[in-house]
Amino acid sequence: MKILAIETSCDETAAAIVEDQNYRPVVLSEVVASQMEVHAETGGVVPNIAARLHTEALPQVLAQVTNKKRLDFDAVAVTVGPGLIGSLLVGVAAAKSIAISKDLPFFAINHLEGHIYSAWLNEQLPELPAIIVIVSGGHTELVLMERHGVYQHLGSTRDDAAGEAFDKVARLLELGYPGGPEIAKLALHGARDAYQFPIGLDERDSLEFSFSGLKASVYSLLQKLPKPLPEHTKADIAASFEHTVAATVARKTVTAVGHYPGLRSVCLVGGVAANRYLRTYLEQALNQRRPDVRFSIAPLNYCTDNAAMIGAAAVYHHLFGKPDSWYASQANPSLEL
Ligand code: KG4
Ligand code: ZN
Repeated sequence: MKILAIETSCDETAAAIVEDQNYRPVVLSEVVASQMEVHAETGGVVPNIAARLHTEALPQVLAQVTNKKRLDFDAVAVTVGPGLIGSLLVGVAAAKSIAISKDLPFFAINHLEGHIYSAWLNEQLPELPAIIVIVSGGHTELVLMERHGVYQHLGSTRDDAAGEAFDKVARLLELGYPGGPEIAKLALHGARDAYQFPIGLDERDSLEFSFSGLKASVYSLLQKLPKPLPEHTKADIAASFEHTVAATVARKTVTAVGHYPGLRSVCLVGGVAANRYLRTYLEQALNQRRPDVRFSIAPLNYCTDNAAMIGAAAVYHHLFGKPDSWYASQANPSLEL
């Protein structure tokens, strides 16, 4: 089955055609139109502007994704939440219209489930049971996945998400938006141990995250330092901050993994999974503790928002579940996994 997938939950207008081939998702065509440049001017996403830009970009994106290789499709999938309501509505309205007019099966996909299945876009597929580490701009979650489509919540953030912490600290350091890649670039020139920042909720065995204390420590350090900050001090702060986020994610993940002796894989997904320092740090931490567990990171181009991952999730809904009623499926900004 060839599935047309649409993703408009935040600030990327994306469409893809994904096919199930021998129980794995294969991306036949994909387009991502980013609104990043517009939002960089305001230092963050302005919801009503994001919705309007989706409305303008989506017809073009759909034309490109289908016409480029003259592709047809047999089903339609769309992100129904969580995300910005105005942005979600654009994709959901378009997807429903296409499904109804062509009388095709319809798949309503949770954005977080999309991120999870980005790990299934790797050459080597993850094996179940798996622990999924979702680190994005809006979410930080540890999820146990024993079977396709069955998710058990293990821990999440009590305040800021990991990506949000990157974006907020980048703003404190007067870097551009989105903050993650800017901090990563600067951190390459800094010392990881220049500053000791706290790991949030560091009690033994806690699988809950907190990044607001980390952000507050960066803020109070900046208050104490003379201005303007020399570039090398900024780089030291970026490197120490990035190290603390990686150490936090690794600490919680290693603790979670310790509870499940039969675990086969750990998957790292979401926008912050694009962070090279985190990718390597977590891999080394897991290899030391559990060399028997496969570490699977979403391919770099499928970490941040895209429609291929939504199509991949829909492929598994098709294989192990069933289509949804377009009538009963609505955009839901606070949809849970
Ligand atoms: O998954 P995503 O595209 O959108 C959400 O679903 O939230 O994640 C976006 C987040 C932003 O906070 C951005 O700063 C962060 O991912 N990000 C990174 C990197 N690339 C993107 N964070 C750290 N390092 C990166 N290289
Ligand atoms: Zn996302």
